[in-house]
Amino acid sequence: MSGRVLIVAGSDSGGGAGIQADIKTVTALGGYAMTAVTAVTVQNTNGVSAVHEIPDNIVSAQIASVLPDLGADVVKTGMLSSVSIIEAVGNALNEYGPNIPRVVDPVMRAKGGHALLAADAAQALVERLVKGAAVVTPNLPEAEVLTGREIQTVGQMEAAADALRSLGAHAVLLKGGHLEGAHLVDLLITATDMIRFEDQRIDTQSTHGTGCTLASAIATGLAMGHPLEESVARARAYVRKAIETAPGLGHGHGPLNHGHTVVSFPHA
Ligand SMILES: Nc1ncnc2c1ncn2[C@@H]1O[C@H](COP(=O)(O)OP(=O)(O)OP(=O)(O)O)[C@@H](O)[C@H]1O
Ligand SMILES: [Mg+2]
Repeated sequence: MSGRVLIVAGSDSGGGAGIQADIKTVTALGGYAMTAVTAVTVQNTNGVSAVHEIPDNIVSAQIASVLPDLGADVVKTGMLSSVSIIEAVGNALNEYGPNIPRVVDPVMRAKGGHALLAADAAQALVERLVKGAAVVTPNLPEAEVLTGREIQTVGQMEAAADALRSLGAHAVLLKGGHLEGAHLVDLLITATDMIRFEDQRIDTQSTHGTGCTLASAIATGLAMGHPLEESVARARAYVRKAIETAPGLGHGHGPLNHGHTVVSFPHA
């Protein structure tokens, strides 16, 4: 294990989420980031205004190019946009990295509401990438789509554990960022345990890309050989400090400070 993470996700021109957040996170945590870009989004802190999908064969070719050459310790997937891109990614990973652990962030919508996954693609995502993944990291609306259950309270989060496990990943991190209230709960559900991570919610607008950042931080921990629970704990601490030290940019949901682990360049 040497911290190599292949990120399969979309570009966020605003730099706060997607591929940009993923690369910054992996780098800031000492890993090595590679990418297969699935889509280019036209996006700032106010939301997504356009999406250009990358052709399926170019998505799979990026995976086919980097895996045999540089190799990867973990693959992290984010925005996949369509059934055909999911199929292309699934096929390329089967061929070039069938045994590489996957962190699957089942991205469906941007924070502003814009769809990032076709309505008919959830089933393909489960069949091709969630099944067998090391961990899948749904937020509450995504978990509702994936299980067909209402999940609006911590009790309902816990009650959905079996349905989430039956999606076929080795573990599920159900993120509670979308719950109301000052208290924040994420649940890590494994074959044997249900582990609660709890915090006070930070009262801030700077939450653009929290999900991408968390999943990439988990992927980096796993790629460096840390166990899952420890990788999740470290990733949550990294995201929390990145929110706390956010630069306050933009007029909408602002980006995090991904570079809080990096020493600033001294001024001359
Ligand atoms: N205001 C906040 N204060 C502290 N932690 C937060 C806050 N909002 C989200 N988090 C944490 O950030 C992580 C991402 O959770 P969230 O539910 O926001 O994911 P998401 O909806 O997938 O994010 P995104 O919109 O970027 O896709 C979780 O660990 C969550 O607990
Ligand atoms: Mg998300």
